[in-house]
Amino acid sequence: MARRRQIYEGKAKILYEGPEPGTLIQYFKDDATAFNAQKRGTISGKGVLNNRISEHIFTALATIGVPTHFIRRVNMREQLIRQVEIIPIEIVIRNVAAGSLSKRLGIEEGTQLPRTIIEYYYKDDALGDPLISDEHIACFGWASQEEMNDIADMAIRVNDFLCGMFAAIGIRLVDFKLEFGRVWDGDFARIILADEISPDGCRLWDLKSNEKLDKDRFRLDLGKVEEAYQEIARRLGLMPEGEEENAVLDFDKHRKKRGR
Ligand code: TMP
Repeated sequence: MARRRQIYEGKAKILYEGPEPGTLIQYFKDDATAFNAQKRGTISGKGVLNNRISEHIFTALATIGVPTHFIRRVNMREQLIRQVEIIPIEIVIRNVAAGSLSKRLGIEEGTQLPRTIIEYYYKDDALGDPLISDEHIACFGWASQEEMNDIADMAIRVNDFLCGMFAAIGIRLVDFKLEFGRVWDGDFARIILADEISPDGCRLWDLKSNEKLDKDRFRLDLGKVEEAYQEIARRLGLMPEGEEENAVLDFDKHRKKRGR
């Protein structure tokens, strides 16, 4: 395939020009970073699994009427998406205390929250993605009040749907991060879900054992990182059972060696 024009390279994904105007190809890397890229590594096969997991979740969300940037998966590591103007805010939805919330407010990790919390972080690596409020968003014009209402409504719908989806496979959705983007219909802008939903940006704990099955295994050096991503894909029914599952990842490795 002819080399496409690269539009953007992030920490875990690359965006290439898509086949038609208004589309992009989103390529999932195995690279992993944590703590604002102070910690770097690779999680072998992560890109393949996140591509598949995110496809599965975005497709399911579309069926309940949540508009997303996802169009279709094109191969093991790439999906065709709609080009959006990314809103520079990370939306974090929390059901259970963990991570920075536990640290900041001294709430024991694993405490069920009496209500779901939505937090906003300004997407700026150099500043370490600082926590912000509605006031900052309005003051600096990162999104309109109407857009923030749409974002909060969609975030709650996504949370309700995902809590049920994960509970059905024995997993507690502790917290997760979403990103949204703007698409234009003439002069009219609409907000749709963008980026990805995968174990990179979710805390997923086994319901019975509380075992962490997400990127915290990488952040906290807990080991069995690849296995955790595979376990999520397996429980979602996205992995062939047994030997074939390794064949899928091996196939991708060979493909990469051939320079595709
Ligand atoms: P936090 O507890 O570290 O603030 O993270 C909350 C959730 O957001 C957690 O599921 C991981 C996810 N997250 C990202 O996806 N990207 C980030 O840069 C950070 C800090 C968190």
